[in-house]
Amino acid sequence: MRTLQELLDLRFGDIGVVPELLAGNEAIRRLAGRGVVRRFKPEPLPAAVLDTLAAVALSSPSKSDLQQRDILIIEDASIRARINSLLKDQDWISGCPHLLVFLGNNRRQRQLHAWRGHAFANDHLDAFFNTTVDAAIALEAFVAAAEAAGLGCCPISVIRNHAEEVSGLLGLPDYVFPVAGLGVGIPATPAFVSARLPLGLTVHRDRYTDATDEKVRAYDKRRNGIFPYRAQRNVARFGEAKEYGWSEEKARHYAVPEREDFGAYVKRRGFSLE
Ligand SMILES: Cc1cc2nc3c(=O)[nH]c(=O)nc-3n(C[C@H](O)[C@H](O)[C@H](O)COP(=O)(O)O)c2cc1C
Repeated sequence: MRTLQELLDLRFGDIGVVPELLAGNEAIRRLAGRGVVRRFKPEPLPAAVLDTLAAVALSSPSKSDLQQRDILIIEDASIRARINSLLKDQDWISGCPHLLVFLGNNRRQRQLHAWRGHAFANDHLDAFFNTTVDAAIALEAFVAAAEAAGLGCCPISVIRNHAEEVSGLLGLPDYVFPVAGLGVGIPATPAFVSARLPLGLTVHRDRYTDATDEKVRAYDKRRNGIFPYRAQRNVARFGEAKEYGWSEEKARHYAVPEREDFGAYVKRRGFSLE
């Protein structure tokens, strides 16, 4: 079993000495050693497990205590089958025993205004942003709790590739939208620790410091030393690169448009994005 020091060194390169206060903490060690799981045993979890994890997830912080996020647990086999078929490009999703959808919900807040007779005076981008952040926090809290219980999870943003169809299937009204799906179950394969950018690029002190190509290339190299990419993305369009790492993979990924219609969908849900 790897220690917290070993896990963080593996993920970030040399991280320095982990202080004693944290080094022996099992909860922190587990958080540092986590990873997504996309292969699951077929056994379903008792409903009470998902409900309890949802309760723990919704115990996480919420912007101004507005509680603008909900969790939708898909139980109906026909709805699930329709969603599996929409997401069939990622075939692992149909093998998840459970599929949940984390929703941003600004509708309830607007209902409070109608019920209490006060105009809603914040009909601008912040309303969408706050609900998204709240839902993302609950998503992560759910993942952390599920992983602490030995379960496996993988968030699913491709659900937003079909935001309109998914909203129809799940009966989402105006001002309620999917932020991400989440596949959950008992892992069939162990999670692995994927290397992250060095803290020198992602933790700043006092002032922001920009990334450099050189430092990102060094990360590519370190990462490839642990888990090199098995295949290059979209070789037909971009060709075979001599050196292929994270930065080339991510630049190729976002050289192709994704979810270009999401802004229009969010506006149709009623949000003003100005
Ligand atoms: C908001 C969010 C959406 C994601 N969407 C998908 C997805 O649609 N499909 C997928 O296979 N993985 C998805 N992932 C999982 C990431 O690919 C994964 O977290 C990342 O590769 C890092 O791996 P790790 O979590 O094991 O460290 C998503 C993760 C997050 C946080």
